[in-house]
Amino acid sequence: MVLNVVLVLVIEAAPESALITHLPGFNATLFPSKHYSGYVSIKSVDVALPKNLFYYFVESERNPSKDPVVLWLNGGPGCSSMDGFIYEHGPFNFAKGKEKGQLPTLHLNPYSWSKVSNIIYLDSPSGVGFSYCKDKSAYETGDIQTAKDTHKFLLKWLEEYQEFSSNPFYVSGESYAGIYIPTLAAEIHDGIKAGEKPVINFKGYMIGNGVTDPEFDGNALVPFAHGMALISDDLYEEVKGACGGNYYNETNQTCLQKLGKVYNAIGNLNIYDILEPCYHSPPSSMKNNIPNSTFGELGKTERPLPVRKRIFGRAWPFKAPVLPGIVPSWPQLLSSGSVPCIDDEVATAWLNDEFVRKALHAAPKNETGEWQLCTSLGYSHDAGSMLTYHKNLTMQGYRALIYSGDHDMCVPFTGTQAWTRSLGYNIVEEWRPWYPTDQDVASGYLQGYDHNLTFLTIKGAGHTVPEYKPRESLHFYSRWLVGENI
Ligand SMILES: *[C@@H]1O[C@H](CO)[C@@H](O)[C@H](O)[C@H]1NC(C)=O
Ligand SMILES: *[C@@H]1O[C@H](CO)[C@@H](O)[C@H](O)[C@H]1NC(C)=O
Ligand SMILES: *[C@@H]1O[C@H](CO)[C@@H](O)[C@H](O)[C@H]1NC(C)=O
Ligand SMILES: *[C@@H]1O[C@H](CO)[C@@H](O)[C@H](O)[C@H]1NC(C)=O
Ligand SMILES: *[C@@H]1O[C@H](CO)[C@@H](O)[C@H](O)[C@H]1NC(C)=O
Ligand SMILES: *[C@@H]1O[C@H](CO)[C@@H](O)[C@H](O)[C@H]1NC(C)=O
Ligand SMILES: *[C@@H]1O[C@H](CO)[C@@H](O)[C@H](O)[C@H]1NC(C)=O
Repeated sequence: MVLNVVLVLVIEAAPESALITHLPGFNATLFPSKHYSGYVSIKSVDVALPKNLFYYFVESERNPSKDPVVLWLNGGPGCSSMDGFIYEHGPFNFAKGKEKGQLPTLHLNPYSWSKVSNIIYLDSPSGVGFSYCKDKSAYETGDIQTAKDTHKFLLKWLEEYQEFSSNPFYVSGESYAGIYIPTLAAEIHDGIKAGEKPVINFKGYMIGNGVTDPEFDGNALVPFAHGMALISDDLYEEVKGACGGNYYNETNQTCLQKLGKVYNAIGNLNIYDILEPCYHSPPSSMKNNIPNSTFGELGKTERPLPVRKRIFGRAWPFKAPVLPGIVPSWPQLLSSGSVPCIDDEVATAWLNDEFVRKALHAAPKNETGEWQLCTSLGYSHDAGSMLTYHKNLTMQGYRALIYSGDHDMCVPFTGTQAWTRSLGYNIVEEWRPWYPTDQDVASGYLQGYDHNLTFLTIKGAGHTVPEYKPRESLHFYSRWLVGENI
């Protein structure tokens, strides 16, 4: 009897064929925990052929059987979640190869989120990263279909990795995942209510600099630019007057002209972190000559590698707010000149190496093409504002952490702070600084609301928070997951 039980358990455990045994560029054979990767194929109503969704699963380095399972999603729409794995909170820090064409080297990341959680990096929807469908019409998709597909993925994944099905489950991500996450959470909730199996032990979600609502997000930039001293008091008063404090849908010529002055003032800044220099401007001769100042120190990171000066596609240039309907593709934005240049060398070099792809159980290049950080999909924003989703989900008892790197100009904290407040929940913890345990300098601020909604800032961080502030990020992440005070 006992033997039988053990056999059954072994058979139903994580698929051995997905286990990663070595990684090119990683010099040690010993992984800090088990890593798995591969595809889960799902069927959906919009195309006949299966959608093959790629995931990379990192077991917790602490207690995999008890620690939460967290799904991580990067945004775009169209950007690979391997971005989070390589540049933000994955188990490795990637150092550029010494010479051009050389593979990067992998070093253990002391601030990996796998220190305290099991984490699934999912390329979603199909067509993104390593995920694909042989019928490319699947790449014409939108918010609602994507949420349904990701939910299907989760059910199937938990079937394969049954030993994790009772762990607390969370969804997390950043930027356009501000749309993916609430829509997915609503699907998960409906599935639980409908008695779908396996039952997902869904506890809550975490969103960083997330796209949420066209009005709140679209009105966030001007007050941000003013508060950060990027525009003058005079211009601020003028633009506020001409636009009536409403910027996201303006047609008034006077207002548009004033907004043009605002864009001119901030146009040569790095949209993803106003403290970081730009790749194009100031000119490259000045790049190593950024003045030292207290303000400049804010952007400093403990990551042993420099943060990317410009990043491509995690979210939106401020002149293209996310409105209902077709979201412009990356090439369209590029030709309009408004997308910052690409600096994703390390990820592109590593993930397009055939040996790496083989080690990751990803499809070969000759079948699915090059891995790209962000892919152009025919993607439609069809779920509307996320405000009702957040309200419904938090009222159902799911916990929510809404965090903002406060130097991001792409999805500025001003909008996020305003919409979290607009839900009208009682403040249960008044605005206060938070500290990593051994520090007396605040790492940011938080405000706690009723219904387990927390708004939190990370001081000096840009759009991709853990890339800039890995230590602080692991701190708030691990505390929040277990429901401890941050
Ligand atoms: C990898 O290990 C070998 C042997 O220990 C060593 O010679 C080499 O320098 C190491 N490479 C890196 C990138 O650490
Ligand atoms: C636009 O704003 C200006 C300045 O506030 C105002 O004088 C004008 O009437 C507005 N135009 C429209 C069409 O609302
Ligand atoms: C913009 O949105 C505001 C608030 O939703 C609304 O009152 C206003 O009429 C809209 N303006 C335009 C030009 O659509
Ligand atoms: C900034 O400080 C560093 C170390 O303190 C120094 O090496 C560098 O030259 C300084 N840069 C400028 C532009 O002053
Ligand atoms: C793709 O390349 C692999 C080797 O990397 C080879 O085994 C496979 O047959 C090729 N597939 C196609 C469709 O050419
Ligand atoms: C929110 O909940 C209400 C009441 O249950 C429901 O009618 C509505 O469809 C929900 N909206 C979303 C976006 O989940
Ligand atoms: C907040 O979350 C905790 C832990 O999951 C739970 O016990 C509590 O009931 C929640 N509070 C509200 C108001 O939902």
